[in-house]
Amino acid sequence: MIRNNLKERAHHLSDLALSELVTTRAKDGNPLFYSAAGLELDISKQRLDTEALGSLFEFARSREIEAQRDRLLSGEIVNATEGRSALHMAYRSGARITGSAEADLVQRTQAQAAEFANQVRSGAFQPSGKHIGRVVNIGIGGSDLGPRLVADALLEFAGSGPEMRFAASLDPSDLRQALHGADPEATLFVVASKSFSTQETLMSAQAARDWLAGHIGADRAGAHFAAASAAPDKASAFGISPDLVFDFPDWVGGRYSVWSAVGLSLEIGLGPDVFAEFRAGAQAMDEHFASAPLEENLPVLKGLVDYWNRAVLGYPSRCVAAYSARLTKLADYLQQLEMESLGKSVTPAGDDASGPGGALVWGGAGTEIQHSFFQWLHQGKDIAPVDFVGIRRHFASDDPRERALAANMIAQGAALLEGREVSADQEPELAAHKSMPGGRPSSLILLDDMDPAALGALIALHEHKVFVESVLNEINPFDQWGVELGKVLTTGILKGDTAEYDASTRALLERTGFYS
Ligand code: F6P
Repeated sequence: MIRNNLKERAHHLSDLALSELVTTRAKDGNPLFYSAAGLELDISKQRLDTEALGSLFEFARSREIEAQRDRLLSGEIVNATEGRSALHMAYRSGARITGSAEADLVQRTQAQAAEFANQVRSGAFQPSGKHIGRVVNIGIGGSDLGPRLVADALLEFAGSGPEMRFAASLDPSDLRQALHGADPEATLFVVASKSFSTQETLMSAQAARDWLAGHIGADRAGAHFAAASAAPDKASAFGISPDLVFDFPDWVGGRYSVWSAVGLSLEIGLGPDVFAEFRAGAQAMDEHFASAPLEENLPVLKGLVDYWNRAVLGYPSRCVAAYSARLTKLADYLQQLEMESLGKSVTPAGDDASGPGGALVWGGAGTEIQHSFFQWLHQGKDIAPVDFVGIRRHFASDDPRERALAANMIAQGAALLEGREVSADQEPELAAHKSMPGGRPSSLILLDDMDPAALGALIALHEHKVFVESVLNEINPFDQWGVELGKVLTTGILKGDTAEYDASTRALLERTGFYS
């Protein structure tokens, strides 16, 4: 019934030009700007009016969004298929953790990681008599994308920390590149893997150990390794000293793990103080999510808008356009966070889910993307709502390049909204080519500045908005069974156990001489 209200409202709004809708809303004094935790969310260019928003809140309440949020934050089992809670927020604030054993674990491992990071940065940790100058994080998925995003975003805060490099791919060139110019005696590897059984990570870690052994000898190589894992025994069995294995509990999901020991390479490269500010920014967003009324709650609003665009208006994808060179990896990060969390079709009980799940997420950094795929956004037949992410300080910057960056971002949102009609009288041959339909919705997220706290809040905003969307869609955002089959089939191919595989795949293996 409530979902029908949403559909009806969407149908009614589809007859209006988006620019008209925006003008009417502005006249009605409903600007649709919200702020919290150093972020502003502007949804004033969305195809929404007061009635549609009202129906969305009604829908969220019918799904018991507040009770579901409280279940998440109080550590109840919200990941039913794996029988786990999802308490990554515990790493931002111990206060909300239910059991003292869990709080102790978080505090102990945070203190250990910070102490080790300080030792590496100060030079007290020198496994081969040299100050560590490079930290190479070996991991993939959530054990890579979060650290990579944060390292890139906060590089200017790194001070004199060692340089941070990343290797995720099975392609040997990736590790080679991460090690280009490295001094083996001054290199530390952090093997980040929740399961410590991921093929890519283990093979690369072995290759890293071979590289070190080739330079400094097998007996000394092990001392250059630390690990972050929820399977500390496996990390130790791999030959990493138990003192340098930093563990975390299995209720921290891989794509939610940057706050935990998986952030070790960041803690070393950026320093524990910067890392603490990053966590504090996320904590501010947690507090806001936990206590703000739904109508002013940023993660709730963002989740409702993204649900509206995907499930009600039917737009299958969403573009993330970050206007900051420091956020070039944001779209990649959000792609895993959202698509691994919301790419589901069934409820926790295994029934068909009522919603379509999350959108396909893609994007890049402005203004570069204006010179690549923005043409498609402006004049293609498909519509993808855009999330612009910008830095408020740029708007009033003394540096003309920063103001131009902000102006470009604002202009793109305005062009998508308004479009342009070129008269055939004036340009008979080119009018159709130069006209732009407009009517294309976008949101804007502004960070006060590109600093650790704002980045923490930005990531936490998205984590919570994913949770909100999962409640609206009735799916479990914390498992990822869909990635299992490919892993099983890879093992079969490597073992030569492919008799039951499909004819096309067997022909491919034959043709390419895989077993010759
Ligand atoms: O792609 C599946 C996945 O399990 C992700 O969820 C995870 O972030 C990634 O693999 C890496 O897993 P791990 O940290 O266990 O190596």
